[in-house]
Amino acid sequence: MPRKTVPDLQRMKAENHKIAMITAYDYTMARLVDMAGVDMVLVGDSLGMVVQGAEDTLSVTLEDMIYHSRCVSRGLTKAHLTVDLPFMSFQISPAQALENAGRIIKEGHAQSVKLEGGERSAAAIRAIVQAGIPVVGHVGLTPQSLHALGGYRLQGRGAEAAKRLIQDSLAVEEAGAFCLVLEMVPADLASRITEELAIPTIGIGAGVGCDGQVLVCNDLLGLDSSFKPRFVKRFAELEAPVADAVKAYIQDVREGTFPGVEHSFVRKHPAPRLARVY
Ligand code: KIV
Repeated sequence: MPRKTVPDLQRMKAENHKIAMITAYDYTMARLVDMAGVDMVLVGDSLGMVVQGAEDTLSVTLEDMIYHSRCVSRGLTKAHLTVDLPFMSFQISPAQALENAGRIIKEGHAQSVKLEGGERSAAAIRAIVQAGIPVVGHVGLTPQSLHALGGYRLQGRGAEAAKRLIQDSLAVEEAGAFCLVLEMVPADLASRITEELAIPTIGIGAGVGCDGQVLVCNDLLGLDSSFKPRFVKRFAELEAPVADAVKAYIQDVREGTFPGVEHSFVRKHPAPRLARVY
């Protein structure tokens, strides 16, 4: 089965099939989520926190995104690959946005790019789409605007903010994006936007009314027990089993019970004695 395309994903909305999207940052995870049958894989700039251990996404570079995109693309056979344009790689001008989107496609082997912002990013989206590169929009909580927003907060709470969010979503669709991520948006507002738009919406902290959902792979696998925001559901608790496996390995190494004979390469003939030359 070939990789999912933009028309495939748009058809899913038309046919009322929910889209499952997940982040991945390397070949191994990409292979696993692809085997499980996910529809879309996002190389998110969340890799700043999840892979690089940074506090936020702001220091992630275009080169980082291209590198991880290339790794992930090698693990995918069926899922559509979309990749974030990181902070300051598209905000300066539509020409900058197009050039960098082109690098993600050419060098990172992605099928589409994702970028944050509503009306303010419409010109960049238009320039990229006109060059034949599909774009995923992203409104609501946009982590690259962390300092302007004052933290990772629910967006579109009041009537004015909700109206602005609807306008932003429409602007992204009008600019030509084929899909829209809604992050940390009240569920009723996300449902309303989903009904208004012809393109699929993918929610994270945006309720069940969206056309699809996205989660960070490390969050849904429970790899960090200290991180549990309200919108995350852990489908596994892998932190403890991973730590236990590593502890068992350390113990075996220290006690000399690993490697066993079955892990060792044994010669048919004993090793020859080495004659010392004085
Ligand atoms: O960077 C990311 O992982 C994202 C998703 C959480 C939507 O943008």
